[in-house]
Amino acid sequence: MTDAPHVTVDPFASTIRKVGEPHPARAVLRAAGPIVRADAPAGGPVWIITDDVLAREVFVHPRIVKDPAYAPVSWDPRTAGLEPTAAAQPSLTTLDGPAHERLRRAHAPLFTARRMSDYTERITEHARRLLTRLADTGETVDLMADFTTRFPLTVVCDVLGVPLERIDQAIAACRGMYSTDPEEVGAAMAAFGELAAAALSDGRDGLAVELRDRVPEEITETQLHYLLFTLIYAGQLTTDPSLGFLLARAFAAEDTAAEATTIDEFVRETLRLHSPAPFSLWRFTSTDVELAGVRLPARSPVLIDIQGINTDPGRSIGPDLTFGAGPHYCTGAQLAQLELKAVVEVLRADFPKARLAVPLAELQQIDLGGIQGSRLTALPVKLRG
Ligand code: HEM
Repeated sequence: MTDAPHVTVDPFASTIRKVGEPHPARAVLRAAGPIVRADAPAGGPVWIITDDVLAREVFVHPRIVKDPAYAPVSWDPRTAGLEPTAAAQPSLTTLDGPAHERLRRAHAPLFTARRMSDYTERITEHARRLLTRLADTGETVDLMADFTTRFPLTVVCDVLGVPLERIDQAIAACRGMYSTDPEEVGAAMAAFGELAAAALSDGRDGLAVELRDRVPEEITETQLHYLLFTLIYAGQLTTDPSLGFLLARAFAAEDTAAEATTIDEFVRETLRLHSPAPFSLWRFTSTDVELAGVRLPARSPVLIDIQGINTDPGRSIGPDLTFGAGPHYCTGAQLAQLELKAVVEVLRADFPKARLAVPLAELQQIDLGGIQGSRLTALPVKLRG
């Protein structure tokens, strides 16, 4: 049994870098070994998995769990960005094992490729309407400020049945989640509760109502609101930054690969290179666990370096880890890809002259810090050329 090598580089730092500049920590982590120890943002060690095969083992490991009840006792949940425990808040992202499986069974049929494809036209129409409105201003528009948050929230709210006049409230709630002021985060969570209640109100017919009829009967109304919050927030948090990179790559004249591949491949490749979830969510060992010859005591935090593995030059080509793997595989994977694809299609069909208003190399991305991904700081575009 050996110790995992300890790296001093901080993979959780919030930094600004150019759009094409690789993340400074990823190669260092990878070079250090398949399982590496770093300093966690909330203190103490975190074990980071940098190897594809080992990552897939961790994604399905029965004793490496999501429930924050197993987080190190010294961790401040707010600094660590932890959700409530599974006992306090049962959800896809806090439960494990059979209880998680039951909740997955309630969600899964609602988000299949077939179910999602029923929304293709509406998703495309939302993209066209929002981009046309921006183009009609005749100005240079910043798509990161005025499109990439609004579009995925419009889609996920529409699919769930949240009335579309509440999109501004949804945008404000998502932005409130980034606040360091607990009162603002509390207000954002209350707003998510209102959005969920609106989707479940009499006469609504979105997937929220279907989900209510499918969840195990012990799930209370408040817990159902939290499940809907998870879908709305996860639906924005990831697709929003991805849209920035996707659009930047689509606009880049030198990126002829965008023309050469199918839109599906282009979307997938953008997500591989710029994974909006660069790390998995937090996991913890529920007992002592041995991984690749390293012993992890109970309550050890474990992360999978999705971005590092996806971009490992030594990795043999196979399915990437953009949407995770195993029982917690992303619920919204089909919806997200449909949304991203729709935007590229609308751009090509309706705005063939659209171009970046600044050179590609001037675009910057900010690593938001912790386990969050990076996002373009701005994307100035002339939609009608
Ligand atoms: C490009 C966009 C997206 C990416 C890259 C992404 C990525 C991921 C990843 C990596 C996980 C697994 C995390 C882990 O196991 O630790 C996950 C889980 C999840 N995602 Fe996504 N996601 C995206 C979009 C969405 C959308 C649009 C929704 C909502 C409809 C969504 C809802 C969820 C939910 C509810 C889970 C938890 C599933 C579970 O734990 O059983 N995601 N996502």
